[in-house]
Amino acid sequence: MNTKKEVLSTIFSRKSVRNFTDKKVSKEDLELLLKAGMAAPSGKDRRPWDFFVISNKEILDKMAEELPFAKMLKNVNHAIIVCGDSDKSDYWFLDCSAATQNILLAAEAMGLGSTWTAAYPYRERIEVIKKNIEIQKNITPLNIIPIGYPKGIEERKDKWDPSRVHWVE
Ligand SMILES: Cc1cc2nc3c(=O)[nH]c(=O)nc-3n(C[C@H](O)[C@H](O)[C@H](O)COP(=O)(O)O)c2cc1C
Repeated sequence: MNTKKEVLSTIFSRKSVRNFTDKKVSKEDLELLLKAGMAAPSGKDRRPWDFFVISNKEILDKMAEELPFAKMLKNVNHAIIVCGDSDKSDYWFLDCSAATQNILLAAEAMGLGSTWTAAYPYRERIEVIKKNIEIQKNITPLNIIPIGYPKGIEERKDKWDPSRVHWVE
């Protein structure tokens, strides 16, 4: 097994997936995504995150209706909401972003599809989420990640741009 090749291949093949089949994701696989999320680095190792795994279609449909940039929640069976506690760390949204990227990459490696859909910093999106699930006051949702099996093939984007690299030698 060439781990280096596999990791790089996952990084380079990850893409946002917004169309999903009806197939449900097992609890073991959802938990594996969360383990990947919690393996992320965090400032001062504070780990100021909480993860809500929503597998309730009624709640997902409601949020799809109310969140204009997360309409794909209507067509998926699961979503992970990555939340952070600003009382625990000023870096909460950075730490939670690292956790999110780990989840997106783990999903790609597992043949699952996902997309980062933003909640923070939009007050109205945060309110919609807080209205639909019970979250403690000091905890802020950073994003909602729909998780499912991809329907069709979505293309990855090639973003390599050497003009953005500045070699200092
Ligand atoms: C901070 C952040 C916020 C995003 N918010 C949304 C969103 O609200 N809705 C959505 O459909 N995609 C959202 N995306 C996904 C981007 O549109 C996507 O990553 C970008 O178009 C690049 O495509 P790729 O992920 O396939 O490489 C977001 C991505 C990031 C990093």
